[in-house]
Amino acid sequence: MSDFEKLINDFKQKIIEAKNSEEIENISSEIFGKKGFINSEFSKIGILSPEDKKKFASQINNGKQELAKVFSQVSSKIKNKELNENIEKEKIDVTLPEKEFKIGKIHPVSQVIDEISSIFSEIGFSVEEGPDVESDYNNFTALNTPENHPAKDMHDTFYLDNDMKTLLRTHTSPVQVRTMLKGKPPFKIIAPGRTYRSDSDQTHTPMFHQLEGLHIDKNINMGHLKGCLNYFIKEFFEIEKIQMRFRPSHFPFTEPSAEVDIGYKIENNKIVIGEGDKWLEILGCGMVHPNVLKNCKIDTKKFQGFAFGIGIDRLAMLKYGINDLRSFFETDYRWLNHYGFDPLDVPTNYRGLSK
Ligand code: DAH
Repeated sequence: MSDFEKLINDFKQKIIEAKNSEEIENISSEIFGKKGFINSEFSKIGILSPEDKKKFASQINNGKQELAKVFSQVSSKIKNKELNENIEKEKIDVTLPEKEFKIGKIHPVSQVIDEISSIFSEIGFSVEEGPDVESDYNNFTALNTPENHPAKDMHDTFYLDNDMKTLLRTHTSPVQVRTMLKGKPPFKIIAPGRTYRSDSDQTHTPMFHQLEGLHIDKNINMGHLKGCLNYFIKEFFEIEKIQMRFRPSHFPFTEPSAEVDIGYKIENNKIVIGEGDKWLEILGCGMVHPNVLKNCKIDTKKFQGFAFGIGIDRLAMLKYGINDLRSFFETDYRWLNHYGFDPLDVPTNYRGLSK
């Protein structure tokens, strides 16, 4: 065996013994690379006689082909083996238990705001919003509230400055003022939102939710108010008949003013809304006081209308059987999980999405 043949055999052996793709790559450049074995053999040809040149060149080419054949077999074997090992390593174990994940719930207050908004929107009310931080003027003065009214007391209202000019709104009624000042009658709006009073017990929290309603047009009267509220209460509680009574009351921003009670009874420890010998107060309302209209630049000879204010949290408690108002705002996940609404499981009378 010539020296050359011996070298070829050694390289073959080396290729066969390669264990992984890194080793095989290194061997490849050692044999076939720019400065590898084959090229260096070819570089020796220059010094040979023309006859020997031919012989030696064909010997190198044969050797090169032999090595290339072994190389391609071994290298594809190694690549296959490594590929299979990787697939095996990355295999997904479908028998593993899934990661636990929790779907969020819609808070009963958000749910009820959506329900109320869709009920009123069906009879032409649009939704308005106002800021939680209000001026004393919009919250009290424009709404005809006298300087010495008890609601203005420091014990009731959260003032944000020493001059008592800025405060956290105590009701959603200032949205009436904002709406009338920025537009022209007629107005037919509802305004849900957060309100604040310095109060805390089982039925009062310092922050709570109200819904304001305002309908101003030519010839609007108490009959329209009654019809509107009657429709709303029936739709909201999903009942055919409702006992409702208007009790004379007083609010500085309405004249006449009334509080509305609905009939209910207790059956099997549960409250049944709609009939019975008991009365539950659910809202305040009245015909908008001419002073309020004047403060809002409305011509009282041409326009008049009604307004109402509803406690949203109270309605949510009644409809969904929740006892303690404070639990609404304790951010207890277990509570929300129990009383909250599945975003994909919409209650029957919720029309916001399905209609
Ligand atoms: N703003 C009143 C309150 O917070 C509720 C209210 C009563 C609003 C009568 C009205 C209304 O618009 O006409 O107690």
